Amino acid sequence: MKILILGGGGREHALAWAISQNPKCTTLLCAPGNAGIADVAECITLDIEDGAAVATYATAQKVDFVIIGPEAPLAVGVADAVRGAGITCFGPGAEAAHLESSKSFTKEICAACNAPTADSAFFTDLEKARAHVEATGAPIVIKADGLAAGKGVTVAMELPEALKALDDIFNAHGAAVLVEGFMEGEEASFFVLSDGKTALPMGSAQDHKRALDGDEGPNTGGMGAYSPAPIMTPAITQKAMNEIVQPTLDEMAKRGTPFQGVLFVGLMIKDGQPRLVEYNVRFGDPEIQAIAMRLGGQVLDLLLATVEGTLADTSVNWADDHALTIVMAAKGYPGDYAKGEVIGGLGERSPQVKVFHAGTAKSGDSVISNGGRVLAITARGETLADAHARAYARLKRIDWPGGFARSDIGWRAL
Ligand code: GLY
Repeated sequence: MKILILGGGGREHALAWAISQNPKCTTLLCAPGNAGIADVAECITLDIEDGAAVATYATAQKVDFVIIGPEAPLAVGVADAVRGAGITCFGPGAEAAHLESSKSFTKEICAACNAPTADSAFFTDLEKARAHVEATGAPIVIKADGLAAGKGVTVAMELPEALKALDDIFNAHGAAVLVEGFMEGEEASFFVLSDGKTALPMGSAQDHKRALDGDEGPNTGGMGAYSPAPIMTPAITQKAMNEIVQPTLDEMAKRGTPFQGVLFVGLMIKDGQPRLVEYNVRFGDPEIQAIAMRLGGQVLDLLLATVEGTLADTSVNWADDHALTIVMAAKGYPGDYAKGEVIGGLGERSPQVKVFHAGTAKSGDSVISNGGRVLAITARGETLADAHARAYARLKRIDWPGGFARSDIGWRAL
């Protein structure tokens, strides 16, 4: 089977690494890929947000299966274009991708199916939004309505921060904002495959969104993760499936836009009750690095069962283990940062540790930094403590003075 993965971050490296181990995969292509992905796939140049270009390329190259990693191509309908060309594709079409690309749409779905989530109000007028926020007070959550590359959400503990977030969104992301009540509790990332009829939980993880130790500093795309998330007990998992995921999938099907792909269910859990924070319509980054490390080559079988509509006959075979991933980012991230710095210490190989590349490129024989989040050092172990020790030991052997990482990934569970 000839497979094309779209994307070039740590998520796509983890997917490529896992999929390349499955004997069904005979040729693996990745657009655009990165220096790490190049070890397991042929990296190609392609505009991954141009559905017609992707479909034309995949047809010409006789690609059997296209897997879409990031949200941006999903939001603009690349999955629709690929399927329209008769090629099997993992990822929802643009209509179902609204669950990530429009936060107000998700709230509408939650209201229609009674899924527990925070109260919210939607504004397209800055003055009305300010008046609402001033009347409600902090803590309060401000979200840009559309995709904002992980930068559109502010959990404001004080009123001035909330008002600044409103100004920033109206200046930078267009005039649509969702103002939400603040939810207390513990967050978890829950991944559910859906073939449009059957939903199959694929695993859980906990992410660390803040840049600095102690959950301080600005929000990022994620500075580390571990899987499984201890808070996702069987009872909470069942409740999340019954009260949130299945009603959402049923509502999407009822509207004639069934969801096919992976639903990334961001949950807030308090006193045994999960509530929806947000949906994403793709794998979490860096959550999938930890999950893929635990699943290996069966990731491909699970993605194929999703697109073939056979999840009812499929199960996920979990080892009783743990994985933890530490993101190494360029100093300055999520603000301004340098690119093009040489990274050493990447050569070691180990079955229990994998350094996934998130933002790297090749320069001659060297690997150089090429993004904000640059590496995801991922280890598995019988216990989370084992995985933690292995990942931090490996981090110490990365030679990149321009990088930084949090030193407390996994603190809550450890
Ligand atoms: N780690 C959070 C995300 O992928 O959106």
